[in-house]
Amino acid sequence: MLRGRSLSVTSLGGLPRWEARLPVEDLLLFEVAWEVTNKVGGIYTVIQTKAKMTADEWGDNYFLLGPYFEHNMKAQVEQCEPVNDAVRRAVDAMNKHGCQVYFGRWLIEGSPYVVLFDIGYSAWNLDTWKGDLWEACNVGIPHHDQEANEMLIFGSLTAWFLKEVTDHADGKHVIVQFHEWQAGTGLILSRARKLPIATVFTTHATLLGRYLCAANIDFYNHLDKFNIDKEAGERQIYHRYCMERASVHCAHVFTTVSEITAIEAEHMLKRKPDVITPNGLNVKKFSAVHEFQNLHAMYKARIQDFVRGHFYGHLDFDLEKTLFLFIAGRYEFSNKGADIFLESLSRLNFLLRMHKSDVTVVVFFIMPAKTNNFNVETLKGQAVRKQLWDTAHSVKEKFGKKLYDALLRGEIPDMNNILDRDDLTVMKRAIFSTQRRSLPPVTTHNMIDDSTDPILSTIRRIGLFNSRTDRVKVILHPEFLSSTSPLLPMDYEEFVRGCHLGVFPSYYEPWGYTPAECTVMGIPSVTTNLSGFGCFMQEHVADPTAYGIYIVDRRFRSLDDSCNQLTQFLYGFCKQSRRQRIIQRNRTERLSDLLDWRYLGRYYQHARHLTLSRAFPDKFHTETTSPPMTEGFKYPRPSSVPPSPSGSQVSSPQSSDAEDENEEERYDEEEEAERDRLNIKSPLSLNHVPRGKKKLHGEYKN
Ligand code: UDP
Ligand code: G6P
Ligand code: GLC
Repeated sequence: MLRGRSLSVTSLGGLPRWEARLPVEDLLLFEVAWEVTNKVGGIYTVIQTKAKMTADEWGDNYFLLGPYFEHNMKAQVEQCEPVNDAVRRAVDAMNKHGCQVYFGRWLIEGSPYVVLFDIGYSAWNLDTWKGDLWEACNVGIPHHDQEANEMLIFGSLTAWFLKEVTDHADGKHVIVQFHEWQAGTGLILSRARKLPIATVFTTHATLLGRYLCAANIDFYNHLDKFNIDKEAGERQIYHRYCMERASVHCAHVFTTVSEITAIEAEHMLKRKPDVITPNGLNVKKFSAVHEFQNLHAMYKARIQDFVRGHFYGHLDFDLEKTLFLFIAGRYEFSNKGADIFLESLSRLNFLLRMHKSDVTVVVFFIMPAKTNNFNVETLKGQAVRKQLWDTAHSVKEKFGKKLYDALLRGEIPDMNNILDRDDLTVMKRAIFSTQRRSLPPVTTHNMIDDSTDPILSTIRRIGLFNSRTDRVKVILHPEFLSSTSPLLPMDYEEFVRGCHLGVFPSYYEPWGYTPAECTVMGIPSVTTNLSGFGCFMQEHVADPTAYGIYIVDRRFRSLDDSCNQLTQFLYGFCKQSRRQRIIQRNRTERLSDLLDWRYLGRYYQHARHLTLSRAFPDKFHTETTSPPMTEGFKYPRPSSVPPSPSGSQVSSPQSSDAEDENEEERYDEEEEAERDRLNIKSPLSLNHVPRGKKKLHGEYKN
């Protein structure tokens, strides 16, 4: 059976195996990052989703070091006393000497220990620590760069803590992994003080790469041509750049998240990464195979409700034929590809109108910007919707009661009189309240920089104003989503599940969690061959488009061509039938094992082996450090996609309805078989979560 062929590789057990255990009982592992318990972007997701796997391996010998913020501590951390003697002594010693160090368990899956430093409380020592950094590596931090100064305090506290720990480690070897330049001074100072630790430095981007790309420079074609000192100086980030580069060169092992960032690092930071550590997710399987499809329908209904309110008075489109697309992430307009996305939406609008399509596309931009709260018009929309709902309900109640009474009397009521004058008045008033003079708003909040905001400025230029004739409607929600929002009360995961397509056409994206998260939730997405995730999928999946991973070529094409390609992807997606979308979601979901930390965690393990062998060569030998063998591994093209040459072009499910039905049925049977197989045989068999079990923060179920 064709599908059987793909089964053997789609299960975790089918992915290449790698086994290399460390004697963790005799080791201590610390990971340091500014985003420990502190959400900014994707580094938080790395640390938080990986915690379970690392804690399972390292037990009580694993600790995360991060900054203390009162609100994060209250919401996410349960304070407790350290059991480990060296750590307890270190915390006590620092607290005795004028610091405020907190210890506890982070309430996420795996419940790892966290050590959090209050940065503001130790700011009095900043000048001394600036002197220490200067002595260590001749890097000075200007007074006005508050963020860099805070990072120095963080690094100095980290180095102090590690000194105390290693003084009392009782023969245990210590590994410390530092993430990103923000944690880097801890590494520089520890090495300058010759602490007996094995170090890893992981970069999730390069400072210069991010800056140069944001300035719309043709970055990838000039990687070897930049005068990097000059570029850093002109952008006033020379000191930060020095902190980053010194960290890279001080580490025993240097790692980054993707091939593409590895090449960039070689040019920008002058060191080739030793290991590439692709980012994973904490994937959980539902016991019911198609539960993720049900969740899609459930959360889509919630988004539909929001849309009913937002477009009140203009709801002349069919919500059953409306697709929800979104882009989300930190607001880096061109790095995240919001520029090309908007341009493509304008072209898509044209195509849908020209072909008189009955499909409407509602596109959400979830990118935090400065705001003065929600705008009145948006809040009014939801209030109007609620009022209509209440009116319909009360009239229905009255209607129902009259009907019931009539039936009890053995009569069929006179339908012309069942609603009285008052009922009609109430309904007319409700309809009047839906009249509006303005178009449905493009943004949900009052934007502080409304006139200069890049998304709004582009919308003004391309004229996507949510008019009745537009087939593409746009909503900018300039705040991360939250289930406590009065406007759109959904958390990010729920929202993603309810959408049809995530669109992330990034120009600068070392990894890009957002499309990866879509994948494990069974939601197709657009990514690019300039994102770490996109390249990883291209390498490991024979026909990514067939699996709902649309990869825009932003490397070898002009901007206009990339934009056309994206438009074609979007237009093709709009032409799919519901059945085709369902099939595609099933296929997308099948890729989740590839993104599971239980598979990708091996690269972190490898980095730890390597650093031990370099820092303590007498104790840890090089034969344990051979890299995981995964090269050449590829998910085959789905069995129902025709083989090339046609298959290589027609990658989205494009069959007739009858064929679709066959594929769906075949899929159901094969999926069952796969689950059975996984339960019984796979050494890495997936945890089955009973339906309805409460989700822990940061866990993705599909
Ligand atoms: N995210 C979120 N809430 C939102 C939108 C995004 O929590 O409303 C998260 C998303 O889940 C992802 C992270 O923000 O894990 C962004 O990470 P990514 O690697 O895509 O980009 P980065 O911001 O690190 O450049
Ligand atoms: C899931 C549900 C189906 C529903 C479908 C809608 O597959 O299980 O009951 O019909 O979603 O899909 P669509 O792509 O139209 O939102
Ligand atoms: C960075 C990158 C992003 C990556 C994340 C986690 O913030 O911008 O692409 O996914 O780190 O590694």
